Amino acid sequence: MLGHLLHLRGIDSVIVEDRSQEHVIERVRAGVLEQGTVDLMRQVGVGERLLREGMRHEGIYIAFDEPRARVRHRIDMAGLTGGRAITVYGQNEVVKDLIAAREASGRPVIWKAEEVSVRGLDGPQPRIAFTVGGEAQELACDYLAGCDGSHGICRPSIPPHHVQLYERTYPFAWLGILAKAAPSSTELVYSLHERGFALFSMRSQEVTRLYLQCAPDEDLTQWSDDRIWAELKTRLRTSDGWEPNEGEITQKAVTPMRSLVAEPMRYGRLFLAGDAAHVVPPTGAKGLNLAMADVWRLANALAAYYERGDGSVLEAYSERGLRRTWRAQRFSWWMTSMLHRSDSDNLFDHKRQLAELEYLVSSQAAMTSLAENYVGVPLD
Ligand code: PHB
Repeated sequence: MLGHLLHLRGIDSVIVEDRSQEHVIERVRAGVLEQGTVDLMRQVGVGERLLREGMRHEGIYIAFDEPRARVRHRIDMAGLTGGRAITVYGQNEVVKDLIAAREASGRPVIWKAEEVSVRGLDGPQPRIAFTVGGEAQELACDYLAGCDGSHGICRPSIPPHHVQLYERTYPFAWLGILAKAAPSSTELVYSLHERGFALFSMRSQEVTRLYLQCAPDEDLTQWSDDRIWAELKTRLRTSDGWEPNEGEITQKAVTPMRSLVAEPMRYGRLFLAGDAAHVVPPTGAKGLNLAMADVWRLANALAAYYERGDGSVLEAYSERGLRRTWRAQRFSWWMTSMLHRSDSDNLFDHKRQLAELEYLVSSQAAMTSLAENYVGVPLD
């Protein structure tokens, strides 16, 4: 997206990717786009398939045990936010559309780069070196954007005393599956069960996406398809008989959960964006959306510099990004702690979680707070 936004402003860029094109297209990731992400994609001409195939959701369900029944409560997000909503569309579909836009622009992407390193970050001309097809190359740049994820090389290339990391790991993870099954609910269902969290989501009218809370070191070989379905149904089923439809499981993986913020999001001429700068647990569906907000802000800042010689927007990049990041961190942490069981929790903690959920679904103010954060605040 950064490459596309820069291209539209007439700014040249080279994208250096260490994976193959097939890998980034096929790797199953998140799937919830905030209103601002959808609007941005449409405004910059990469939203055509999204508009056609994306599934606009105006509400979500929260399920938990009430004293006499297990109930799904709907939160009317559009009604509570003046018509804002989320769109379910796989992150890898977004990536596919952006690769097509990049190819149409004729500007370069280097795939399968090896031995990537950056240097000269605090000087006037930072450099990126890599090997591709056995040949060593080095590019001298005006700026570097570190969009290489939480395990990338950019953040660790900043001298340690120039960056402060704020971090929390959670004592659980998500076991996620894709199944060839028609979604049995038109909207997502976030569920707290005494056996742990479960989430019902989807990718299309034919594909259901489901998650259940598991251990961070969960051994996938212990999870037969039958065991997965039994556990998902136990944790999701509500007293009115609602449960997910079963189908062939086509993908299984464990997603770790952590929160991380790097401050500042910049060192010299290196600007961090997306997971390179911050990681959120998936419960709030914020990861991809925060990355989109970062690159939108970074592209505008670079354009202000190249078009008007105004460097002040670049100077403000980190501070403005951190404000949005911490807002998303707070929300993601809150959703995570409200909906997961932890071994260190006792019965008091579980009762408190249920009280929190009951308050949430019975208070217009509490539902509005969830809704406005979930659909996302406008890009700033
Ligand atoms: C997904 O559909 O993959 C998904 C949905 C909601 C989340 C996380 C992941 O909070």
